[in-house]
Amino acid sequence: TERLMAEVPETRDDYETALDGCRRCPLWQDATQAVPGEGPRDAALMIVGEQPGDREDLTGKPFVGPAGQLLDRVAGEAGIDRKAAFVTNAVKHFKFTPRGKRRLHQNPNAHEIQQCKWWLDIERELVKPKLIVAMGGTALESLTGSRKGILKRRGKIEQAEDGTPILVTVHPSYILRIPDHLREAETARFRADLERARAFLE
Ligand code: URA
Repeated sequence: TERLMAEVPETRDDYETALDGCRRCPLWQDATQAVPGEGPRDAALMIVGEQPGDREDLTGKPFVGPAGQLLDRVAGEAGIDRKAAFVTNAVKHFKFTPRGKRRLHQNPNAHEIQQCKWWLDIERELVKPKLIVAMGGTALESLTGSRKGILKRRGKIEQAEDGTPILVTVHPSYILRIPDHLREAETARFRADLERARAFLE
């Protein structure tokens, strides 16, 4: 922790500038920009997703596309104001393959997740959240070292290596991708997970 503390940039600008210059893995090459976490520096709750999508890559802000809209809505229903949380991603650059005019999301690999943990650790040092919500396998792997059995682990509170409580849940993009007839029930489970997060912080 001492080593890390020494590396924590003094201001938000220092951190965001350093992040945008990151060359720790090759994903910077094709992305428009790095997307830092967003929210109050003293947020009690940190919400971690996978990586920026197309909209996030273009705007430089996390969770502004379809997954972000679902997150905002369901978090609100669970009594969590998204603006009061620090919202970020396990991987800070968009990974995609071009397909015509579209850019298709690709999953970050273990190396990219590991290299980008550097930045997530810095954000955790800056914010020191009381609870972290890990949404989906990539966030879970970054924060706990393993994504195995996520659907059995979801809804439960685990601990990061430093003892920070981690609430495990699915990624909102997963809910957007599943067949229509399953979506309502999965949204309700996602809401219940976020309600548990809210209750933990009370
Ligand atoms: N999906 C993510 O995991 N993060 C974003 O910022 C947007 C979509």
